[in-house]
Amino acid sequence: MASDAAFSLAHISDPHISCMADIRSGELLGKRFFGYLKWRLHRSARHRDSVLAALQHDLAVTKPDHIAVTGDLTHLSLPAEFRQTRQWLESLGTPDKVTVIPGNHDTYVKTVWQQTLAHWTDYMLADDADIGDNPVSGFESIFPSLRLRGRIALIGVCTALPTAPHLAVGTIGDRQLQKLETLLARTADQDLFRVLMIHHPPAPGTVSWRKRLTDAHALQSLLARYGAELVLHGHSHKTDLSKLKTPDGHVAVIGVPSASAQGRTPQRRARYFTYHITPRTSGWHLRLAVRVYSPDENRFIAEPDHPFSRLP
Ligand SMILES: [Fe+2]
Ligand SMILES: [Fe+2]
Repeated sequence: MASDAAFSLAHISDPHISCMADIRSGELLGKRFFGYLKWRLHRSARHRDSVLAALQHDLAVTKPDHIAVTGDLTHLSLPAEFRQTRQWLESLGTPDKVTVIPGNHDTYVKTVWQQTLAHWTDYMLADDADIGDNPVSGFESIFPSLRLRGRIALIGVCTALPTAPHLAVGTIGDRQLQKLETLLARTADQDLFRVLMIHHPPAPGTVSWRKRLTDAHALQSLLARYGAELVLHGHSHKTDLSKLKTPDGHVAVIGVPSASAQGRTPQRRARYFTYHITPRTSGWHLRLAVRVYSPDENRFIAEPDHPFSRLP
């Protein structure tokens, strides 16, 4: 990217790709059993492969410079779902063009890393990750991650961890918060456009108590001290706009609906946002383009009248 050219960053989230056809009864113990029932009762009708196919086609046409995927790629964290999701990621782009962070459904239960999340390692790893001779075997070697694309800094934060049935909370954790503080402090004065990617919404009031980010206050404090230029999240399955304090004012905190959602209501229909980020003599210019799934046309179309299209 030339230093004064616009960089286009597409944000998609929560595809909830599932493989329920070949499921074995032994895979449905504990929390997965309830998740399976929920899928059969409601979610299979809401999340559609046809919507994801339309999304893939649309992204191939709009050709963003980079794609940010903010978690819940799978539904029950089944090994088959991770294999299928790997193929889906490859259909979007190579690991240098697509950045992934996990969501709570990607750690629905405790799993064997090499059978599950290892399938995405190269889509999650930091540019300068020093993994030595040992294969990555957990999030602690990956997050927080920093990927630089020109002057755009993609900062990945992991909030995913297995939780009790009926809970969908997320936690950053002290270890990651300490590293994140160092990373945000180091990048604060480097004239970068820092995009913080996190699955659970960090602003208050976006999701219910059972779906909350347990240490949201700690992240809010870091943003208040070191700032960021944009925060992207998933998890809520709807369009959300909040703001959090930074040293210079506020940062926009934006969520998108599920990428596979047929849409119980037009508000919850699949959308993706593309941020066109252009450096200015002082600061940045941000233009947001919204594309929404049209069930009538089975394709994504521009939504110029979406309120978020009029962001600064
Ligand atoms: Fe989700
Ligand atoms: Fe989620």
